[in-house]
Amino acid sequence: MSQWSRRALLATTLGLIAGGCATGGAGDSTYRPLVGQGGKDVMWVPTLDGLVMQMLEAAAVTPEDLVYDLGSGDGRIPIWAARRFGARAVGIEYDPKLSALAQRNAERAGVTDRVRMIHGDIFREDFSAATVLTLYLGQALNLKLRPTILRMKAGTRVVSNLFDMGDWEPDRTLRTPDQNPVFVWIVPASVAGEWTLDASPLGAARLRLEQQFQRVRGVLAALGGGGAIALEGRLDGARLSLSSATGAAPGAVATAGAAQRRLELLVDGDLLLSLPGTQAVGRRLR
Ligand SMILES: C[S@@+](CC[C@H](N)C(=O)[O-])C[C@H]1O[C@@H](n2cnc3c(N)ncnc32)[C@H](O)[C@@H]1O
Repeated sequence: MSQWSRRALLATTLGLIAGGCATGGAGDSTYRPLVGQGGKDVMWVPTLDGLVMQMLEAAAVTPEDLVYDLGSGDGRIPIWAARRFGARAVGIEYDPKLSALAQRNAERAGVTDRVRMIHGDIFREDFSAATVLTLYLGQALNLKLRPTILRMKAGTRVVSNLFDMGDWEPDRTLRTPDQNPVFVWIVPASVAGEWTLDASPLGAARLRLEQQFQRVRGVLAALGGGGAIALEGRLDGARLSLSSATGAAPGAVATAGAAQRRLELLVDGDLLLSLPGTQAVGRRLR
């Protein structure tokens, strides 16, 4: 193991203990796991009950949601998601004894109609149906999962106890009572490329967009040479908000008397819909 990996492991270990439950155990007469016991890619440290609530509230979980906890330990997060929020929930846990304990815990909590515990590997199981993902894994694992998470449906909420996702900035950061961070991301739609718009502040136009996670910038160019404006903005899931950029984007020419221009759109695959309506006003060219 390299010195860097050793340091990362130590930081994750200390972090996990700081963000979870460092004392006591959980379990039943069949199996009593130990806090800090080894796991496939990361050890088991349970999230404190109050923090479970805080994470699920931060994701604004409702009965319509399907919550997946990746590396679900004794199953407390899926169980709380079902019990307190009425959601359907799934836990994926590699350790067979923890997974079996989670299943018994779900039975004791009377939530097996809404909760499923999968004994499996988070890097092999399909969690693409989730509308909410909860993580307490460490930054290295978050980064390894990131490409898969970014391919999930736009609007999926991702909550991570303590660990960030590198240069994918969180949409929100909350603090636990002991000041540890809880990060929330909304999976952004994929918008990079070129679009044609039937209607825009410049009339019929071409929209060229660059994207870095939820941040977007680009150029809106009127068809027929009627000028162009630089735009910048962000995605809130599938909702794209753009307004005139302060700095000029390459290739943009300010139109005469251009005031603040705004575009509020909903991304639906290869279509752009007007907001608040649902009429298609644009489509992807490439
Ligand atoms: C820090 S604990 C978090 C447990 C639970 N999510 C909670 O917040 O109480 C991380 C869990 O991930 C599990 N784990 C580690 N690598 C895994 C993998 N590749 N697939 C599934 N679970 C894994 C560990 O066994 C451990 O239970």
